[in-house]
Amino acid sequence: MPLSKRQTLTQYLIDQRRRFPGASGELNALILDVSIACKAIARQVAFGALGELPTGGELNVQGEAQKPLDIASNEMFMRQTEWSGHLAGLASEELDDPYPIPPEYPRGKYLLVFDPLDGSSNIDVNVSVGSIFSILRAPDEVVASGRDVAEADFLQPGSTQVAAGYAIYGPTTMLVLTVGNGVVGFTLDPNLGEFKLTHPDMQVPADTSEFAINSSNSRFWEPPVKRYVDECLAGKTGPRGKDFNMRWIASMVAEAHRILMRGGVFLYPRDTKDPAKPGRLRLLYEANPIAFVMEQAGGRCSTGRQPMLGVQPDRLHQRIGLVFGSRNEVERIERYHREPASKEYAEPLFAERGLFRD
Ligand code: AHG
Ligand code: MN
Ligand code: MN
Repeated sequence: MPLSKRQTLTQYLIDQRRRFPGASGELNALILDVSIACKAIARQVAFGALGELPTGGELNVQGEAQKPLDIASNEMFMRQTEWSGHLAGLASEELDDPYPIPPEYPRGKYLLVFDPLDGSSNIDVNVSVGSIFSILRAPDEVVASGRDVAEADFLQPGSTQVAAGYAIYGPTTMLVLTVGNGVVGFTLDPNLGEFKLTHPDMQVPADTSEFAINSSNSRFWEPPVKRYVDECLAGKTGPRGKDFNMRWIASMVAEAHRILMRGGVFLYPRDTKDPAKPGRLRLLYEANPIAFVMEQAGGRCSTGRQPMLGVQPDRLHQRIGLVFGSRNEVERIERYHREPASKEYAEPLFAERGLFRD
């Protein structure tokens, strides 16, 4: 298709709004602000070691070291979205507490939750990183009273998301979005600085023979996960009767994007590594937005035990076990969680065969 015929993100959003004659256009304006933050982050990422950012950084509320680009990306999200009157408040991986819109700006009816830079351990090695965002409605009472937002206002199940998506800063910059009507992908045209619609109907294939998991954690996995991975590794000679391929980028956005494009399954399951952390990834700004995208693309997302979008959050920075991707594979992993574990996995001392065992 000639470039000029492709819709821009703005045109796509206007088209979508025409389906709802009563809509005010505020959601569109908010998504466009998010897209501008993503473009600004893409530029900063592209400058790499040439980008002059203040050095240093602190530990965030999760106890993780913040990189200068984590902090800069967080600033770009905040400054681009706080002023416009569409938000009652926002929350970020890099902020300990929810951020109420300051009094000098009007307050609106939405909440924005984001991971400004996902996969930031990959920045220094020039591997793809991304940003993840989720848009929720502020509770009616918050909008009516105009009071400051509090943590409880954000504790909504993922099924209530109005829009969600991610930007990936890879060989090309892309924005992938759902407003609850399928999943669309836009590629940043570097000549125009515009996101152009290049992937109008993204669908996750139902079957796959590719999985992604950090197997250095295997000794901490629960029996259903051990069983699943063992069966994949056994390949043609095992119960699955086919060979599997494995990938691990350590940028969830990049893994989610690969899975959207060609199928696959991603697991960062609940494990026993640190009892204080039931899982590695965060529910509100990592798992839920990716879950909304996956489900809208015909894939599936789960904790292993229940659909991710049904989970009632209990904390802003809550971590959770996460499994997503090709529907049939995620359903199989959920089934393994329901079935009683065989002796081999429930009591590893009795195992005759196991991961990396001869
Ligand atoms: P963040 O950079 O926002 O803290 O997230 C990193 C996440 C995720 O992107 C990735 O899948 C995972 O951490 C990698 O974990 P390991 O270091 O265990 O591989
Ligand atoms: Mn992240
Ligand atoms: Mn992050």
